[in-house]
Amino acid sequence: MKKICVIIGARPQFIKHAPVELALKKIFNVISIHTGQHYDEKMSDIFFKQLNMDKPAYMLEVGSGSHGKQTGIMLEKIEEVLLNEKPDAVLVYGDTNSTLSGALAASKLHIPVIHIEAGLRSYNKLMPEEVNRILTDHISDFLFAPTDTAVSNLLQEGIKKSVYKTGDVMYDTVLLAKKVLGEDVQVKDQVLVTLHRPYNTDNLVRLTQILTILNGLKYAIIFPIHPRTRNILKAANVDISIFDNIDFIDPVSYFDLIRFQMESKCIITDSGGVQKEAYLLKRKCITLRSETEWVETLVNGWNTLVFEDLEKLSILVEVQPGSYVDDVYGDGHAAEEIAALIDKNLKND
Ligand code: UD1
Ligand code: UDP
Repeated sequence: MKKICVIIGARPQFIKHAPVELALKKIFNVISIHTGQHYDEKMSDIFFKQLNMDKPAYMLEVGSGSHGKQTGIMLEKIEEVLLNEKPDAVLVYGDTNSTLSGALAASKLHIPVIHIEAGLRSYNKLMPEEVNRILTDHISDFLFAPTDTAVSNLLQEGIKKSVYKTGDVMYDTVLLAKKVLGEDVQVKDQVLVTLHRPYNTDNLVRLTQILTILNGLKYAIIFPIHPRTRNILKAANVDISIFDNIDFIDPVSYFDLIRFQMESKCIITDSGGVQKEAYLLKRKCITLRSETEWVETLVNGWNTLVFEDLEKLSILVEVQPGSYVDDVYGDGHAAEEIAALIDKNLKND
């Protein structure tokens, strides 16, 4: 059996890994390596338990830190594991510092790199994720792109070999959640909010402006708060009880977050995964960013970008989207397709 080391470390990667682990394990010896980028129980363990995933074989416990320090320590620790495990390939997801470290460590050891969620671009290099994605794609040997846009982004950068359009593995997980939760979910007068991007959180003036505007909306706001955002508000001694229309709660499990999206009239977020899930669940989304990688969600107003003009939010939450385009993120079997493609192509490597 060929051996694949999988690098995971941040919340969305656990969710992406759930269906992929299941599919890979039927064919490969799967060794998961958790970098420790996210470590709170509600940012990590909760997903392994709820999604019945294996405990990672390695917990590198790198923790938080500046980009250079975090990426550097991960690189060193992942290299050590790879030298020990000697896998046939290393698989990475998305665009976090864990992704880049894993891809770089493998590439320098001449171990084939598999990138799931290849080809995404925001064309904004101020985002740390954009740099992580570009570098990872350029050193990857197998690139699994979720959409046509992602494939053409890669083509524009001259990457055409071993690029496969497979659909998005997060759709596989959404379908599982829908099965678990059932169809009988009541929509409430509620808006779900998630925020963690540095440009919305690291500047306290902007963050409190966003919270003030959200607080003034006529719908109840439910806000599972990312630790980055929570820590920033806490460090600045912001009294969040003044935002009395916002229910600040701890990060929740995956199924709870999907249920909150299904129960909400609208979702306001800066998360990549949540934008996509809102679309897949047919919920209107407003994204507090000036651009998005998930351009398919913008069609017919299903997702609207707002960055400067936050006052528009009260009007935008009322706007109904137009017709819906199905299947832009695949058929919900991306993980199985990816596992089969790796099997076929690694053998010939
Ligand atoms: C990271 C990813 C981002 C992804 C997000 C998913 C990078 C550059 N960023 O951003 O692409 O969208 O994860 O959620 O890789 N913290 C805790 N407990 C935790 C984890 C983090 O308290 O379990 C706090 C720490 O103060 C830390 C801060 O959150 O400094 C930011 O964490 P970090 O992983 O560096 O970046 P994210 O904003 O989570
Ligand atoms: N999510 C969750 N609990 C929460 C907030 C988000 O399970 O309290 C899930 C969400 O459903 C999606 C993923 O985490 O699947 C998105 O992760 P995040 O927003 O942290 O990162 P991004 O997708 O922006 O990289």
